[in-house]
Amino acid sequence: MSETTSASTASAPVVVTGAASGIGAAVVGRLLADRIPVIAADLSWPADAPERPSVHRVMLDVRDPEGWAAVAELAAASTAAAGALAGLVNAAGITRRARMENVTAEDFELAFAVNATGPALGIKALAPLMAGGASIVNVGSAAAVTAHYAVAYAASKWALRGITKTAAMELGSRGIRVNIVHPGYIETPMTASASVAFRDINVELTPLGRTGSPAEVADVISSLLSPATSFVTGAELAVDGGLTAHGGGLPIARAIS
Ligand code: NAI
Repeated sequence: MSETTSASTASAPVVVTGAASGIGAAVVGRLLADRIPVIAADLSWPADAPERPSVHRVMLDVRDPEGWAAVAELAAASTAAAGALAGLVNAAGITRRARMENVTAEDFELAFAVNATGPALGIKALAPLMAGGASIVNVGSAAAVTAHYAVAYAASKWALRGITKTAAMELGSRGIRVNIVHPGYIETPMTASASVAFRDINVELTPLGRTGSPAEVADVISSLLSPATSFVTGAELAVDGGLTAHGGGLPIARAIS
């Protein structure tokens, strides 16, 4: 077996944050369908969340280094038989919708702590448990590659791109890959709390003319976790129906047609 596939055994688990909702929950579902065990982490879990075999639920605030140490301890115990941790998906995230004119220092602190520092702490805590072939996927945003009115959120996601590329550089010699996906408008509890106007203009500016589903993002993340992408690291992949690709070209094309 080559170095690039040695950690991708069926029984090696993947840690997923933000696993109780939206994109993170869809990733858990996809991994289970692929018979990959999951350590599912989130701030809290609904009391009536169904128990599922192969899913170990944990409470984690991604801002907390001690919380990550506890997850690492659990992952080390879970991987004893498999030999190594297969991967990490950093899907936990929060939005801050303040614009430049009223954004506060607290908006920046919170957004950066959860959306950038959190994933970095996770990579630091869990990479030592990984071997060649392991894969880390960060969840960025269309707002990580463009201007976006929610300035603290956008800045934190731009920061996550830097963390992704630096981690890819640092962990490459161990055969560990690190990539980032950039969802466009995806139907989750996060976007359900946004205005109708925000949804409508996203659909209008998305060449595929619709919003995306959490499962469509999970499918791409699953591919980045798998050996099918064994030579892809430090890469950024838009999962946005073409939203960011046209860079403003779409309304221009429409205006002159
Ligand atoms: P969501 O709100 O449905 O799920 C986010 C999950 O993260 C929640 O379960 C929440 O409890 C958890 N979380 C928040 N803070 C946490 C913390 N400190 N520690 C641990 N868990 C924490 O949101 P959604 O839409 O599923 O978002 C997932 C990721 O995708 C986020 O990083 C978000 O920024 C990103 N994203 C989402 C888009 C969308 O259109 N829904 C678009 C672009 C990016």
